[in-house]
Amino acid sequence: MGALCVWLLLVTPLIISAMPLNLEGNPKQEGATGQFWHISDLHLDFSYHITEDHRNVCLSSKGAKASSPGIFGDFLCDSPYQLILSAIQYIKDSHQKVDFMIWTGDSPPHLRVNELSTKIVIDVIRNMTSTIRSLLPDLLVFPALGNHDYWPQDQLPVKENEVYTAVAEFWKPWLTEEALSTFRKGGYYSQIFKSNRSTYTLRIVSLNTNLYYSPNKVTVNMTDPANQFEWLEDTLKISRQNNEKVYIIAHVPVGYLPFARLTPAMRETFNLRLVKIFRNYSDVITAQFYGHTHRDSIMVLLDEKENPVGSVFVTPAVTPIRSVLETDSNNPGFRLYQYDTMNHHLLDLWHYYLNLTEANLKNESSWDLEYIMTKTYQIKDLQPESLGDLVKRFQQPGSIEFLNYYKNYLVSFDSRVGCDPLCKIQQICAIQYLDKDSYTKCITGSKGVK
Ligand SMILES: *[C@@H]1O[C@H](CO)[C@@H](O)[C@H](O)[C@H]1NC(C)=O
Ligand SMILES: *[C@@H]1O[C@H](CO)[C@@H](O)[C@H](O)[C@H]1NC(C)=O
Ligand SMILES: *[C@@H]1O[C@H](CO)[C@@H](O)[C@H](O)[C@H]1NC(C)=O
Ligand SMILES: *[C@@H]1O[C@H](CO)[C@@H](O)[C@H](O)[C@H]1NC(C)=O
Ligand SMILES: *[C@@H]1O[C@H](CO)[C@@H](O)[C@H](O)[C@H]1NC(C)=O
Ligand SMILES: *[C@@H]1O[C@H](CO)[C@@H](O)[C@H](O)[C@H]1NC(C)=O
Ligand SMILES: [Zn+2]
Ligand SMILES: [Zn+2]
Repeated sequence: MGALCVWLLLVTPLIISAMPLNLEGNPKQEGATGQFWHISDLHLDFSYHITEDHRNVCLSSKGAKASSPGIFGDFLCDSPYQLILSAIQYIKDSHQKVDFMIWTGDSPPHLRVNELSTKIVIDVIRNMTSTIRSLLPDLLVFPALGNHDYWPQDQLPVKENEVYTAVAEFWKPWLTEEALSTFRKGGYYSQIFKSNRSTYTLRIVSLNTNLYYSPNKVTVNMTDPANQFEWLEDTLKISRQNNEKVYIIAHVPVGYLPFARLTPAMRETFNLRLVKIFRNYSDVITAQFYGHTHRDSIMVLLDEKENPVGSVFVTPAVTPIRSVLETDSNNPGFRLYQYDTMNHHLLDLWHYYLNLTEANLKNESSWDLEYIMTKTYQIKDLQPESLGDLVKRFQQPGSIEFLNYYKNYLVSFDSRVGCDPLCKIQQICAIQYLDKDSYTKCITGSKGVK
């Protein structure tokens, strides 16, 4: 996040689509299982190279010595191109039958402002787009912009500019002219995913939540930057009328940061407005997908009576970078979701990761399955009720499910890293309470979370 975005399988190649997943837990008729990938926070560091002097391995370490640099990267650096290629190549080689991919932004590296420029940012987004396109030419991708996909970082504007215009050109193969026209003006769009298997039409709504991100100075004091709220409500209203289902995708997540106290990623007022809209349209919005924190986490949107009404997923980063001030990082990761093609309810997610230490030791990109959500947590699907029950189990003292959750949160970075009681309260409160009132009650103990 911001300058510190950072503070912020196969076991054997399993052919998932050939497996009868979850059918006993499948709530609806004979809806077939559809799949899609979600990848985020690639953060290409084009300066990365192996050299004797560890201070010079990558610009993104900002002069700190790389810790143990290898061909797939280092925990103090952003992604070498090799790491990103290996991720996309793994997706290609898995031969999964998927309907599309979600890509939630942040392509450029964490560099000082004078080490980047509008041109470099545009070049990196072009590079990432053509890399994905060249390996996966037939894949439909629904992208969203991240706070690093602009120069200076975080300052995404509320009107047309060089970056939105250039990126709209790169994403032409994936997006409709209608989607591109709102994207050029405000960095957001919506687009129907056409499928002949569904009762409901699926609409992807890609939000530019970077407009609400706290460090964005452009939008200070604005009530509706780029008229995105108005557009979102109109879009959801029409979706409801047309009996559509919606997946929300965006970079900066709604809600509170799980590693901080009382800190939403967005400005408080913007966050609250979004939460209200998401509650209001919880019959239309089937799930939400974010990136940005570089960690693997979930949230359960509760309505005013604390009933679970929304499933929210934050996918971790491909970049393994941490700042020198942090002790923990994440291994590179991305995921595959499975959904019921009749109603677009989420059934499961398969999370893949690269043990970076091991990959560097072996000079081999040993991407692997990290966990299967329903199996690890003993839940029947990824519906709000299931996630609501799960977080209740997390709260029990010594919860094995929570131990697993925390291991996965850091993408198996280090199994010795634990979550002390304060850490656990922050995690539990952030999972369930997305608005200021309820979160504050939780973190100060009056919800009985301890
Ligand atoms: C992307 O950047 C990498 C690293 O700088 C370079 O090796 C590669 O050729 C570029 N690829 C494209 C498609 O621009
Ligand atoms: C759905 O569409 C695809 C391609 O457009 C086609 O191959 C397939 O047969 C169709 N399936 C059904 C059930 O109509
Ligand atoms: C925002 O509003 C506050 C209070 O009215 C004011 O002090 C501040 O200068 C405004 N900032 C900008 C960037 O407009
Ligand atoms: C909730 O939705 C209704 C109609 O769909 C709308 O009139 C109302 O303004 C919405 N409220 C909020 C807070 O979004
Ligand atoms: C990653 O690889 C290292 C080196 O081989 C090993 O020590 C560590 O246990 C591995 N981590 C996981 C989660 O398997
Ligand atoms: C891995 O690659 C590095 C640099 O390319 C080389 O120095 C090292 O010997 C290789 N290690 C193995 C186990 O192949
Ligand atoms: Zn990021
Ligand atoms: Zn970010």
